[in-house]
Amino acid sequence: RNVAVILAGGIGTRVGMSIPKQLIKVAGKPIIEHTLATFQASPLIDEILVLMTPGYLDEIRAIVKKGGYDKVSQILEGAGAGGTRNDTTAIALNALGDEDCNVLLHDAVRPLVSQTIIAANVEALRTHQAVDTAIPSADTVIMVDDPGARMTDVLPRHLLRRGQTPQSFRLSTIRAAYAKAAEDPNFMATDDCTVVLRYLPDVEIAVVAGHERNMKVTEPIDISLADKLFQLASADRPEPLSDDEYRRRLAGKIMVVFGG
Ligand code: CTP
Repeated sequence: RNVAVILAGGIGTRVGMSIPKQLIKVAGKPIIEHTLATFQASPLIDEILVLMTPGYLDEIRAIVKKGGYDKVSQILEGAGAGGTRNDTTAIALNALGDEDCNVLLHDAVRPLVSQTIIAANVEALRTHQAVDTAIPSADTVIMVDDPGARMTDVLPRHLLRRGQTPQSFRLSTIRAAYAKAAEDPNFMATDDCTVVLRYLPDVEIAVVAGHERNMKVTEPIDISLADKLFQLASADRPEPLSDDEYRRRLAGKIMVVFGG
């Protein structure tokens, strides 16, 4: 049994609108509705839990009802202001029953998640108890000192990835990790795989390919970016070009330029 957990408990301070960013309309629908629709459409997903910003439960109930998203079994309050994303995850883990299952934890504000990414997560859970979704970094990622004014290190780029979601787990595994984290007064994380990595070091975390399109709406500019990406959706390729294909197209372009 595969359960999707849509984390929508935040308020979107960085986007800075009067409503939580997951309710902002992009390509004709609230961001969270695109996310819901993709999980609803997946033949691999049996059930969906939504964790919503306190005070906005009526809004999400209306979206679920109007869209007929019948895989949604529970709509709960997330951690809210003062709480963290991890607090919201903890609420979701408590709300799930005793029967072990697979949980796919996904940011509501990644509305361009694909069926390919969902399938890769479910497939990896056949052999692993924890799965992360990540993409290579085009930028060089640098380490800095605490105020961020000085560079301290550069890690080899081929070993770096940018983490996305879903992050997926056997329910019993992620619950065990969170139980240990709850006993650590110094607990700090911004995602869920980190909790497993830190508190269950023997668990191997598989990494599956995400996609540049699976962006997280974080800053104001991301609203128009996401809108544009939806417009391009039909024309866009599902996967990045291979090196050979890229060179072939580039060669074609240069011929056009000089030929013209
Ligand atoms: N999230 C959550 N509960 C929280 C904080 C965040 O469920 N207490 C969710 C957000 O709703 C979002 C995802 O986690 O879908 C990724 O978090 P982020 O982009 O940081 O969202 P916000 O916390 O809303 O944004 P900001 O940090 O700008 O306030």
